[in-house]
Amino acid sequence: VVREHGVGPVDAATRAALTGKRVLVTAGPTRERIDPVRYLTNRSSGKMGFAIAAAACAAGAEVTLVAGPVNLPTPTGVRRIDVESAAEMLAAVDSAATGLDVFIGAAAVADYRPTTPSPHKIKKTAERIELALERTTDILARVAARADRPFTVGFAAETEDVERYARGKLETKRLDLIAANEVGDSKAFDVDDNALVVLSAEGREEIPHASKIDVARRLVVMIAAHLSKSARKGIA
Ligand code: CTP
Repeated sequence: VVREHGVGPVDAATRAALTGKRVLVTAGPTRERIDPVRYLTNRSSGKMGFAIAAAACAAGAEVTLVAGPVNLPTPTGVRRIDVESAAEMLAAVDSAATGLDVFIGAAAVADYRPTTPSPHKIKKTAERIELALERTTDILARVAARADRPFTVGFAAETEDVERYARGKLETKRLDLIAANEVGDSKAFDVDDNALVVLSAEGREEIPHASKIDVARRLVVMIAAHLSKSARKGIA
């Protein structure tokens, strides 16, 4: 057992599965510009994704973290790429995706962005205005669809029917694992703790309520176990 990066002990099996593996993590919200002084965003703090990057790094992985606008220090040993919008996050992920072993999409990427951001500050003249929005590219689904796809882990933030929606995303996005959490007023977003239900084709595992640091470490242990299982299947 080795202690590193303040994220606690890393067991030998996890370390063996992840040492030298290339891991890419997305974290935080994105900001979608409306005009030069306004944007659409969400309540993600980035804490879960940063804790996952730290835990994977402590287990010996070579970690790149693509981060939306957050107020968090870079975990020691992690390569960080800062982005603002979903389009920038997609470009950063695309440029780092070749030769990856594991992708973990923990970012709360905007699903929609203003179709035509205004180059000038929108003035308060009309009584009503409408904001046209268009879909962003699903970064996670795109990584999972690559010919050289890494082991792909998604998140599902749901306010209801958590497991049903999460299993749907696991299947439609063709993921290896999905970590589902219930979100709400004081749940998951912008708080220091979390609880997850982790779903795969084979079943369901739970990570009980704990600090995001501990939850991240347990998720990394699970990912490592699934990785070594799929490596064994690959050899068989
Ligand atoms: N995600 C992504 N790119 C997007 C939207 C989402 O990579 N443009 C990823 C997130 O990082 C997360 C997962 O997709 O890992 C699930 O995001 P979520 O918002 O829960 O699901 P959606 O597929 O957007 O579905 P919905 O909003 O309808 O629940």
